Amino acid sequence: TDPRRIRNFCIIAHIDHGKSTLADRMLQITGVVDARQMRAQYLDRMDIERERGITIKSQAVRMPWVIRDGDRVGESAVLNMIDTPGHVDFTYEVSRSLAACEGAILLVDAAQGIEAQTLANLYLAMENDLHIIPVLNKIDLPAAQPEKYAEELATLIGCEPRDVLRVSGKTGDGVEHLLDEIVRQFQPPVGDADAPARAMIFDSVYDVYRGVVTYVRVIDGRIEARDRIKMMSTSASHDLLEIGVVSPEMEKAGALGVGEVGYLITGVKDVRQSRVGDTVTGNNRPAVEPLGGYKDPRPMVYSGLYPIDGSDYPALRDALDRLKLNDAALTYEPESSAALGFGFRCGFLGLLHLEIIRERLEREFNLDLISTSPNVVYQVITEEMEEYVVTNPSEFPVGKIAEIREPVVRATVLVPNDYVGAVMELCQSRRGQLLGMEYLSTERVELRYTLPLAEIIFDFFDQLKSRTKGYASLDYEPSGEQVSDLVKVDILLHGEPVDAFSAIVHKDKAYQYGTAIAAKLQKLIPRQQFEVPIQAAIGSRIIARETIRAIRKDVLAKCYGGDISRKRKLLEKQKEGKKRMKMVGRVEVPQEAFIAALSTT
Ligand code: GTP
Repeated sequence: TDPRRIRNFCIIAHIDHGKSTLADRMLQITGVVDARQMRAQYLDRMDIERERGITIKSQAVRMPWVIRDGDRVGESAVLNMIDTPGHVDFTYEVSRSLAACEGAILLVDAAQGIEAQTLANLYLAMENDLHIIPVLNKIDLPAAQPEKYAEELATLIGCEPRDVLRVSGKTGDGVEHLLDEIVRQFQPPVGDADAPARAMIFDSVYDVYRGVVTYVRVIDGRIEARDRIKMMSTSASHDLLEIGVVSPEMEKAGALGVGEVGYLITGVKDVRQSRVGDTVTGNNRPAVEPLGGYKDPRPMVYSGLYPIDGSDYPALRDALDRLKLNDAALTYEPESSAALGFGFRCGFLGLLHLEIIRERLEREFNLDLISTSPNVVYQVITEEMEEYVVTNPSEFPVGKIAEIREPVVRATVLVPNDYVGAVMELCQSRRGQLLGMEYLSTERVELRYTLPLAEIIFDFFDQLKSRTKGYASLDYEPSGEQVSDLVKVDILLHGEPVDAFSAIVHKDKAYQYGTAIAAKLQKLIPRQQFEVPIQAAIGSRIIARETIRAIRKDVLAKCYGGDISRKRKLLEKQKEGKKRMKMVGRVEVPQEAFIAALSTT
């Protein structure tokens, strides 16, 4: 295809503003999918994705379009619509999808206005120098206020309100005009057709039947169907089994040239060998410089995953092995805990990623799991100048610490101005630093904060929602690290540390954490034959204490004189309960107590 006829674009939108519906309508109007197939396609999507209304994996679809009016009437174009994942944890994948485009449709619900995710994605698009077409969606809704929000959008991106397009993804109203504008406003791709091939990977997906399907955008040169290709980050080379375009099914092609978007299949079985952001080149005439912007996926949040039933451990390992094939960011290694038994220390991109994996393990693999409270990755430097990367509180070095660094994020919160105070209060209590505050309109405010990631993964979103009656929206992206005054708090049961409850927290919150966990365990752990202190400690310094008083565990006392079968039953029951007991030092703790204590932290 002549690059001058190609337009590569994506749709950026806040969740529920109607991206998928608009995309489906475009497929239908361009004739790529007919109305009957529409439903089937929709059903194809993963269960969790559909239920949660989020897009986990991105894809690209090619659509033909002929301009219908104006001075370029009759011009036929090839539109490549590249889908972007919809959640903060996948910022890097979003940025690669955007980098594969020349333009972005900024889609905003005409009854809701701009939300945090709209802004965060808009900033990313602007960093990638994309041309933006602002579009109001759902104009068929009685509650739509297109005048008001066109003004808001125009102010935001610096255009006239009349340049803001209006569509309904539901009825199809305005969608043809939008397609015309895509051809008119977005630039065609430019690249050097004679240079060695360079194509950027913006997605790779594991398919049970075909192995890994890699989605690419060709920047320079040409990839031929029978080439041997090379991944520039690893220098690994592979024979191509197939290349093609998606429209909406996979269609084989002979070659992909400058500006084209398509897929390639090499037979590799693991998405780690075909990484998002990497550059694909030809093995015979390789490019010298890879395209910019490649980053290894790096887990940001760690948590221990343990089967509630210890005999499920091998099943959990197999399930993780399976999920890994389609998830380059998931990491795990075996770990054991005195409290929880054998499990895995897993690394995730963020909290949603963790929840998705956990849910898939429970649902698709029928596992009952308990997860330890998630923690971020800390950089710890001791006074001997030794550096540690701590992904688990148990790895926290003993001895004098010179410096601890923790990851921070740049957060965007959008909120009606009545709730600005509530949001500021929350952000301050979470060690946030205000970066800026802007009025998008008379009643809506954008607040930008730097916040420690550790504070965000700890029920921040729920707090934000409840303090603003659900009106606030939040988005964030990684923004480096900061030095913080952090300490490791251990929880001791009768003098023995309980590994699953150790945590790295800010010094000012150590006491609060210690007393909360100690109080909780005090309620959950049954009395023993002797007095059991529960202590929270920083190093050897005790900061909080609760006590479980001793009892004489004479279960038969109550049955004195009663009938013998009842006595026997009681004894049986007690024996059964013992099986599920864990020993922490001399203290017997039912596993349920640990699970209950963890599931509410
Ligand atoms: P993903 O993030 O990709 O899942 O898509 P999305 O969340 O941006 O939105 P989706 O297309 O799933 O639409 C969200 C809801 O808005 C659905 O209930 C749609 O039926 C509804 N919707 C989408 N477009 C329109 C529209 O133009 N008019 C009306 N009335 N409803 C719409």
